[in-house]
Amino acid sequence: VSSLQFNLTDPALLTIDAASGVFHGANGRYEKSIRELEGVYRDTDAFALLVAKSGDDAAYWVESSNTQSDTGGLITGLSVLEPGRVGDEYFMTRGHLHARAECAEMYLGVAGRGVMLLETLDGRSSAVAIEAGQVVYVPGWWIHRSVNVGGERLVTLFSYSVEAGQNYELIARAGGMRQLIVVGDDGGWTTRENPSHLGYRR
Ligand SMILES: [Fe+2]
Repeated sequence: VSSLQFNLTDPALLTIDAASGVFHGANGRYEKSIRELEGVYRDTDAFALLVAKSGDDAAYWVESSNTQSDTGGLITGLSVLEPGRVGDEYFMTRGHLHARAECAEMYLGVAGRGVMLLETLDGRSSAVAIEAGQVVYVPGWWIHRSVNVGGERLVTLFSYSVEAGQNYELIARAGGMRQLIVVGDDGGWTTRENPSHLGYRR
């Protein structure tokens, strides 16, 4: 089979600037302000206070490259999540299941201390700590969210199939993920059942 039969994409070099949270060579970017994360956190009073103080500040952003957008391509991106808490919950991304749920994803820790919270539709949960130099493999069919449990920015590099897509509604409809990542009695992170979780329905 000749490559001439395909839309041949040029090789790309991307460079991580962990200190500034910039992914040089990326061609896409989105940002979520604190205000836009309404409904994500359980402590609505703490969230309202935070929004009043710094609602327009960025909670996280993603810079990504999708140079090969046809079948077989990978989207590669840098995720930068600010440190902070709302009540006893750490700052986190909205989280999702891939629209094509069988699609996996790889996360490499670049800077900071994080937790990848993973859950299945039928009740399994896993919280995997991730630091610089560590890789978390998110298999297909696992809902996933990044949580910043450190005092500095959590920077991770991810890569997934261009066909994966994201379903963000699943978590919102379920009243949040089944587990919360919260501050424990010893000051470190721990998991706790989310009393508002209704179960996942696809
Ligand atoms: Fe994902």
